[in-house]
Amino acid sequence: MSVPPGQAPGAETSAPAIADILRRLEAILETSSQQEMLLKLRTLAADIDLLVPYHDGHMIRVTCYALAIGDRLRLSPKDMLALEVASLLHDFGKLEVDGAMLEKEQGLDENETAEVRGHAEKGYRILSRYPRLEWAASIIRDHHERFDGQGYPGRKLAHSVSLLSRIIAVADAYDAMTTSRPYRKRMSHTLAVQELINNSGAQFDPLVVRSFFSSKDRESLGLSDRMQEHVA
Ligand SMILES: [Fe+2]
Repeated sequence: MSVPPGQAPGAETSAPAIADILRRLEAILETSSQQEMLLKLRTLAADIDLLVPYHDGHMIRVTCYALAIGDRLRLSPKDMLALEVASLLHDFGKLEVDGAMLEKEQGLDENETAEVRGHAEKGYRILSRYPRLEWAASIIRDHHERFDGQGYPGRKLAHSVSLLSRIIAVADAYDAMTTSRPYRKRMSHTLAVQELINNSGAQFDPLVVRSFFSSKDRESLGLSDRMQEHVA
């Protein structure tokens, strides 16, 4: 799928494009085979990534990171399935956010900030209409909640936020930091790791951060011994 004709990258996603995504989602949810549903959802997520400014594979990458964390936390197959579905659709609500706001994202006024942040609630509102996605919708709504209760939309404290949302929060932040945005360049892996560590216990669940950088992956992630100590 490509960006619909007449829609410049960064423009607000057109109503027909959103309607097409919803039609495809509804067809996918009628699929009886779980494996087939996941395969089709991955394609849908990749196509949504083409519609949302700067996403460029964001939801797919976040899903890979989230599943790696889930693996390290030894989540049950049921939770891994829930984690994959929620990760693949975690920014679904951005389809209904003004693309110009998403590209700006810095120097936003109060209303613009509320518009951008509204994507979590919008994703929940749209996806909770489908009984098969009701649980995923709640996970998606909470993916910007913080461990210290200062996140959005609900300012919920860690214990009232699903572990799956806390996993997506870390995976999402790592990908956001290590990819370029219209208003800033990508951060190096090392700096992004340092940011996650610095915000462990405030923005992020320390257990999730530790799992992301577990010792068995230290080498592949380029973590120094010193950094590993900070998350151990
Ligand atoms: Fe988000």
